[in-house]
Amino acid sequence: MLRRILRLFQKTTIRIPGARDLAPGQARTVQLGDPLEGGTQILICRLEDGSVHAMDTDCPHGEGGHLIPGPLVQGKFAVCPLHNFQFDPRNGRVERGACRSARCFRIEERDGEFQITI
Ligand code: FES
Repeated sequence: MLRRILRLFQKTTIRIPGARDLAPGQARTVQLGDPLEGGTQILICRLEDGSVHAMDTDCPHGEGGHLIPGPLVQGKFAVCPLHNFQFDPRNGRVERGACRSARCFRIEERDGEFQITI
């Protein structure tokens, strides 16, 4: 139990190669950890201005949808196709739809790789 509580406050930085392959206006997913043991799937988005952002793919609408990889809407919004809600990767806020914000993670790009802190 104590170990679980401590894990809530621990931060881990994970390095993801291939940062140069993500073009502006695109998003890709990465799986962190085993999905059967509480792993997280993250959507890495490169906006058209070149900035990079990371969000949990679990849609905050709460009906089982997931944010998807591929082109961002207008080069800047991630989409959950289940009800077509759109999210701003810079802060997770819903741009089109009505629900709470998506969970965001700190991400940096360094030496051709992404470094995500979870
Ligand atoms: S579950 Fe994602 S928009 Fe409804």
